[in-house]
Amino acid sequence: MDRKEFLSLLGISAAAFTLAQCVQGCSKGNSSNSSAPSVDFTLNLNDTSNNALKTSGGYIYNNGVIVAKTAAGTYIAVSQACTHQGVSVVYTGASGFYCQAHGSSFSSNGAVTGGPASSNLKVYNTTLNGSNLRVYG
Ligand code: FES
Repeated sequence: MDRKEFLSLLGISAAAFTLAQCVQGCSKGNSSNSSAPSVDFTLNLNDTSNNALKTSGGYIYNNGVIVAKTAAGTYIAVSQACTHQGVSVVYTGASGFYCQAHGSSFSSNGAVTGGPASSNLKVYNTTLNGSNLRVYG
C-alpha cells in the first residue's frame, strides 16, 4: 500500500466513524429517555414518608423516579429528571408532568407535550400488591 492509498482509506474510515456518531447521536434526540437508569424498588404505602401517595394527585421522588397517584387511583412512575437539563419535574394531575425550570411539559405517559425538552421521560412499571407498590423497569 502506498501513501496515497493509505490516506484514502484513512479518509473513508474517518467519514464512516463520523457518520456512525451522527446517526447514534441523532437517534437519541426524539425518543424516550433511554439514559435513565433501570430501577426496581418497592414502596410501603403505610410508611409516613409515602403519605402523598394516598391522595390522588400526590407524588413522591424515590431513586430518581417520580411516582404519582392519578385521579383514577392508579399509580404512574416516570424518570424524575427533565430531559432538557435535569431539573426535577412535578406531577400536575391530568395534564401529566411539568418542569418549572423552563416550562417543559410531559403527558402522563412521559411523552413531551411542550418544549424545550425534546425527549420523553422514561416510563416505569408499577404493581400494587396490598400496601406494597413495586416500581420497576
Ligand atoms: S430543565 Fe426542564 S425545561 Fe429546562
